[in-house]
Amino acid sequence: MTASAGADPHALRTHTCGALTMGDIGRDVILKGWVDTRRDLGGVIFIDLRDRYGLTQIVFSPQDDAASHAAADRLRSEFVVSIQGRVQRRSEDTINPKLPTGELEVRVHDLAVLAPAAAPPFVVTAHASKSQHAGEDLRLQYRYLDLRRPAVQERLIVRHHVYQVIHRYFDQHGFIEVETPTLMKSTPEGARDYLVPSRMHPGQFYALPQSPQTYKQILMIAGLDRYMQIVKCFRDEDLRADRQPEFTQIDVEISFATEAQVQSLTEGLMSALWQRVLGQNLSLPFPRLTYDNALRRYGSDKPDLRFALELTDLSACFAGSGFRVFDAALAAGGAVMGLVAPGMGDRGRGYMDRLDKTVVRERIGAGGLIYARLPSSGEAARSSVKEHVLPRQFVDRAIAHSGAKAGDLLLILCGSTPQVYEQMGALRLHMARELRLLDGAPAWAFAWITEFPLLQWDARAQRYGAVHHPFTSPHPDDMAALSDDPQSARSRAYDLVLNGHEIGGGSIRIHDAAVQQQMFRLLGIDAQEAQERFGFLLDALRYGAPPHGGIAMGLDRIVMLLTGADSLRDVIAFPKTQSAQEPMSSTPAPVDTAQLDELHIALKP
Ligand code: AMO
Repeated sequence: MTASAGADPHALRTHTCGALTMGDIGRDVILKGWVDTRRDLGGVIFIDLRDRYGLTQIVFSPQDDAASHAAADRLRSEFVVSIQGRVQRRSEDTINPKLPTGELEVRVHDLAVLAPAAAPPFVVTAHASKSQHAGEDLRLQYRYLDLRRPAVQERLIVRHHVYQVIHRYFDQHGFIEVETPTLMKSTPEGARDYLVPSRMHPGQFYALPQSPQTYKQILMIAGLDRYMQIVKCFRDEDLRADRQPEFTQIDVEISFATEAQVQSLTEGLMSALWQRVLGQNLSLPFPRLTYDNALRRYGSDKPDLRFALELTDLSACFAGSGFRVFDAALAAGGAVMGLVAPGMGDRGRGYMDRLDKTVVRERIGAGGLIYARLPSSGEAARSSVKEHVLPRQFVDRAIAHSGAKAGDLLLILCGSTPQVYEQMGALRLHMARELRLLDGAPAWAFAWITEFPLLQWDARAQRYGAVHHPFTSPHPDDMAALSDDPQSARSRAYDLVLNGHEIGGGSIRIHDAAVQQQMFRLLGIDAQEAQERFGFLLDALRYGAPPHGGIAMGLDRIVMLLTGADSLRDVIAFPKTQSAQEPMSSTPAPVDTAQLDELHIALKP
């Protein structure tokens, strides 16, 4: 369709589709936008014209302009048009109180079609009541249509506000933003690297940053004192709703920093964000919980603290019970853990069997559920294990210790630690949903998790791995443990958690070359490998490195939580799917053999 005669398609709009007010009644205006919805009521055509700013009803009547009216008859969803018309009050019966422009309309006397549109593969509309559920794959393939919907745009607009608050906040606190390279040497953050082959250096590769960790430390050694950057990071790992292969960090590093300083600066940022986006005041400081406590009490190092529901260690109650499953777990240094589900003591066998099979065994991957039901009638507790296998007195002791009352359900898992804590943590989240504990719970539960262990044993690789990353400083009280009992050593790492999500992680760093070298040795990286991979950092540490520390926050996760989105995909303009593809542009894609040749790469058949 060509532009119809009429409104000058090159004339600038006088208003956006969200701008007109009752003060504009009687004015001639030019609007431009997309056809959202179209109704033909007895010869008069009503169209909701949409842009980023809102919707305005425009009206075509043969009396006003016959040519425009005839052209409007050919308009379809998502056509882009320019109109000229006069603003008027709507008749009483057509007022839409839900729309800011709902009391007015524009009577069109000139229409130009700026671009026709093919029939969209799903309904695109600003009217929540008219929108239909389209599958995510289709929405991502036609992301430009999906992004036209105000609910989706709104999240990107929040994200924009978040950037502005961050920059203002750190600028006010004396930070400078420094860009670090995207083509760099591998930095270990525990995931697989995305590699980029070098054309100039056959057989050599750049890695995309898993984080700018080493660069920000170098910037401290360089005397920059306070660094921040909103930065893309890349990790080739299995994806989940809160994990993307490329994501954005708010990256921060401070010289002469203490844990408390990094944490209070971060709290100030969260406070500024919640104030700007939600108009809410957060209560500061956030609670602090050691890693050990978090695991024992909530079964997770990112506990959802919007509800209480704590685990209890029942190991001592079952010592010497003669019940083989418990005895074996305890003899191997494991634990027997309990969780009280209030008010669920009258559940029948069917419910308990389903919980055991589909939740505990299949989803959580634990060996099996043991439980005691305490009927609300006050009758004796009903244990899932026969009395001659697990004597009554042990069960009674566990019930007393757990604090379970008549009407409650005591759930029990046993196994090695920390695995059984984590399984119990997953069951805790499941039971919280069953018990609807989030209804009426506080909206936001922030907490700092502190004193993470420095190392964890990797049974497959038969060596230690860094719990945070290899540059994290050991806890000053645990320096001796580094040689005697490395696994017991705590670190100076901390995570910020919110509603069960890890939204940030950081640490005070090693700033002494000898300690850094000791750390590499513990991680099974010998002197030669350390020199090859991190020689630049070890060298820099010898030239006067200030003590320093910092944090990186997951910007996508923060925006996801702020906007109530279910997935990071909802707050990223062009996200990757679960299978790490970007459906609109079909990324990744094959490349020409000529391109591979230049990169000295041959594909395996
Ligand atoms: P860490 O690896 O804990 O620390 O990452 C910091 C924060 O980044 C977010 N995050 C992710 N978000 C989306 N998708 C992912 N795949 C993903 N991975 C991590 C999380 C996490 O808390 N260099 C250190 C920071 C430091 O020590 O200063 C680092 O990267 O919210």
